[in-house]
Amino acid sequence: METTASAGWTFEELAGDPGTFYSGYFGKQPLLRRGALARRTEELLSVGRLDDLLAMETVPPAYLRVARNGQGVSSKAYTRVVRAGGAALSETVVPEQVYELFRSGATVTWNYLHHLLPSARRLVDTLAQSLGAPAEAVAFLTPAGHDGYAPHHDPVDVFVVQTSGTKHWRVWDRPEASRGDSATYTAEELGAPALQTTLHPGDVLYLPYGTPHAAAAGDQVSLHLSLTVERRRWRDLLAETVQQVLADEAFADSVRPDRDLDGPAHARMTALLCERLAAAAPAAPAPRPQGGTRPPREFQRLASLTGLTPAARLRRSPVPVELGRSDGGKTRLTAAGHTVAVPDAVAGALRLLEAGGSLPAGELFPGASEPRSLSAAASLTRLGVLEPVPATGGTPR
Ligand SMILES: [Fe+2]
Repeated sequence: METTASAGWTFEELAGDPGTFYSGYFGKQPLLRRGALARRTEELLSVGRLDDLLAMETVPPAYLRVARNGQGVSSKAYTRVVRAGGAALSETVVPEQVYELFRSGATVTWNYLHHLLPSARRLVDTLAQSLGAPAEAVAFLTPAGHDGYAPHHDPVDVFVVQTSGTKHWRVWDRPEASRGDSATYTAEELGAPALQTTLHPGDVLYLPYGTPHAAAAGDQVSLHLSLTVERRRWRDLLAETVQQVLADEAFADSVRPDRDLDGPAHARMTALLCERLAAAAPAAPAPRPQGGTRPPREFQRLASLTGLTPAARLRRSPVPVELGRSDGGKTRLTAAGHTVAVPDAVAGALRLLEAGGSLPAGELFPGASEPRSLSAAASLTRLGVLEPVPATGGTPR
């Protein structure tokens, strides 16, 4: 589906200057960034790419939602059960039935598009890491001139990226009295929108959680990607920090119900918890994106490594490396979930490369023969610690 590897995304591409975003908009008010992704919309998502996905005939029903006139359509209208020998094997989406619903004015929503599309996965990973919270990608394909969903708010922050056609958005101020995590509204109860705008391909609209909104397609088929990010509230962060502190053995004894619930023991343990909390580091922020620190396209990377020559120049990759202490001439090296022992001289060369620059593969192991140096270089390259310097120009790290 993707013929060329696309580069990663930056948080700045979506949100602009992070300082301005966090202080002025994050969790507070909508932000419209015209043309922010204008040069990369095709790379991110296109209508044709959704056709290709549907044509695979392997889309599980959970990935699609269909809504007409603001109401959900039962999945029975566009799925069938695959049978073998009389037994139901799985339920699958029937492309022609989805197209028929779309022709009749239904909006087709693709949940978890980052599970299916590498470009969406990369953008979602960037967002999740930057905001330190789980993120997802959902695509909305709306026929020309139709409404998507009735006015509502969502329990998440949303970055809307328009990728094809246009969509008209109405956005209202958050109601004074909270209506919970999600709610739908009538236009009457919301009154005049605070923002009315038409998004064109490449435009990005940020909506903080709880912001009521409604969208309708223009005179063409409209496709937009909603990147949703769960809120990480103080209560979430502190609950995680408390959990980390409570994992200590000091809190592992059984509670004696006849003595401990309101006596001095309870006061002592509460004081201990407060003391430990005051000294604790905050819980780790972002869940690591799937794949961790491994470079994308691992098969392709491994395939490109065959035939490493002594003259091939290698540099440190972005994969983090921990070098332990030297023991008996070997240094423990941990990277990408693996721990190996490397000769001290190789560890020394890696420390030099950490500062930048490159080395010929045949010189990675100072004092050793060229074949041994080459063998060490090949091992560390397979592990992802080293990478070949591109022949021309080079790609930014
Ligand atoms: Fe929404």
